[in-house]
Amino acid sequence: MNIRAVRVEDLAGMQDCNLHNLPENYTMKYYLYHALSWPSLSYVAEDHNGRIVGYILAKMEEVDEQDGQPPTNHVPHGHVTSISVMRSYRRLGLAKKLMLQSQEAMSSIYRAAFVSLHVRKSNRAALGLYRDTLGFTVKNIEEKYYADGEDAYAMQLTF
Ligand code: ACO
Repeated sequence: MNIRAVRVEDLAGMQDCNLHNLPENYTMKYYLYHALSWPSLSYVAEDHNGRIVGYILAKMEEVDEQDGQPPTNHVPHGHVTSISVMRSYRRLGLAKKLMLQSQEAMSSIYRAAFVSLHVRKSNRAALGLYRDTLGFTVKNIEEKYYADGEDAYAMQLTF
């Protein structure tokens, strides 16, 4: 398994992986926006045939660190828009590696103070990854964040 920074030609494979694994889907324009704006923050995992079997889509944001309001003190931070791994490639450590690669670039290239993300309250696998393996903490519960009405945990990890 090879993990490397995203290239524009990977975006269709990334979108395909996302459609297989998550109900939160995005336009090709949104993938392109991430890849062109922050090329060092999004990564793919490819199998020996070059098929994309996992990805992380991430970006930088500037909002107030304390209350999430529009910029007042311009704290730059990273945000994980989406991550997923194809079912038959799970529990191999791929998501952990994808997260760590992106987090390292957020911190070293963009001087991010922290990384944030949203996750469904019911998503045990992702919660295990973020909280238990990577050390994220829950900052807030955002009620009915998802289109189907499920609440989200807003989680953060300080660098
Ligand atoms: N149950 C409990 N803990 C788990 C599970 C699980 N099913 N899967 C992973 N973890 C935790 C464990 O602590 C694991 O460490 P361990 O294997 O040493 O016990 C750790 O996470 C690292 O696991 P990885 O192998 O790196 O995770 P994987 O590559 O399997 O991917 C992921 C995890 C991305 C959550 C995968 O299950 C998936 O694609 N799920 C569907 C899509 C999804 O839910 N994405 C996250 C949405 S939130 C967002 O995108 C910001």
